[in-house]
Amino acid sequence: MSITKRFYGNTADGTAVDIFTLKNSKGITAEITNFGGVIVSLMVPDKNGKVEDIVLGFDKLADYEKKGPYLGAAIGRYANRIGGAAFELNGIQYKVDNNEGENHLHGGFKGFDKVVWQAEVVNNNGTEALELTYRSKEGEGGYPGNLDVKITYSITEDNELRIDYHAVSDKDTVVNLTNHSYFNLSGHNSGDILGHKVMLNADKFTPTDKASIPTGELADVKGTPMDFTIMKPVEQDIHADFQQIQNTKGFDHNWVLNTNGNLKEKAAEVVDENSGRVMEVYTTKPGVQLYTGNFLEESPVVGKGGYVYRNHSGLCLETQYFPDSPNKNNFPSAVLKAGDEYKHTTIYKFSVID
Ligand code: GLA
Repeated sequence: MSITKRFYGNTADGTAVDIFTLKNSKGITAEITNFGGVIVSLMVPDKNGKVEDIVLGFDKLADYEKKGPYLGAAIGRYANRIGGAAFELNGIQYKVDNNEGENHLHGGFKGFDKVVWQAEVVNNNGTEALELTYRSKEGEGGYPGNLDVKITYSITEDNELRIDYHAVSDKDTVVNLTNHSYFNLSGHNSGDILGHKVMLNADKFTPTDKASIPTGELADVKGTPMDFTIMKPVEQDIHADFQQIQNTKGFDHNWVLNTNGNLKEKAAEVVDENSGRVMEVYTTKPGVQLYTGNFLEESPVVGKGGYVYRNHSGLCLETQYFPDSPNKNNFPSAVLKAGDEYKHTTIYKFSVID
């Protein structure tokens, strides 16, 4: 794999930002910027070897700086929601940014998607990787502890986009890092993902209230439109007469993975019969948010090449701790103890149907 670097632009406050091009020898190329850790483009061959960009994104850095739908970005300190924008840790009540009504979403008003990261190209056992680091200061977004975060991106010769997450805090805190890429396996400018087929290796999901805060229940998917254990097209149940789906105008839920953190077991798969592209997801995390881009039209999203993204133009598979874990004792804990290491890996693996 090779990595090259070029200047991307200056942020509004004049900080220079770069863009890194990661390439393997099989035709996969990713462009990643150290602004927000954003995956700006991901070029992947289809069944005929035609290479296309399969992630939604913007042309200009300035568009990533605006409030938006988190296209391609690194998300933290806590991905997804914290109910009431507050949690208790070691008997202390912490208030975090209430940037979505009364609740906290994706790290707050200025999450990890809106900051400039330090970038370095490193050599991991003979493979080059892009390492982004950021110090999230105590109190940023409302969180306790200075948190040193490292996200490492690489593209392997097995056609995997691999993202390794690492963090250490000097005080007990909560951490939940993910990537918010919107995939459209036919190409970012090809229309919607309703015909994509999805498999989620999950027998349960976490039902939510009207504000998308989990009730705490782990509900069986069996016999409901939330069942993706057998691959089905997104469109089959996206508007099903099922309260959970109607609340969120499509899928926007956390599934409880059966994989128990095993990176070798498939967590999710997406198949696009049009292009023949297949994406498998592997992760050490316990959950995955399938978000079908239900709110992309809330504000017009003019994307790369001037293409306007509509609702369902892309889908996200955000590997994560369950939403609102800091307030749910029965969910896997997202607490990171002072001095301990937070470590997670997520792999998006590409192939074509034969
Ligand atoms: C996540 C959430 C969605 C939405 C998007 C960003 O996927 O679950 O509800 O907020 O982020 O637009």
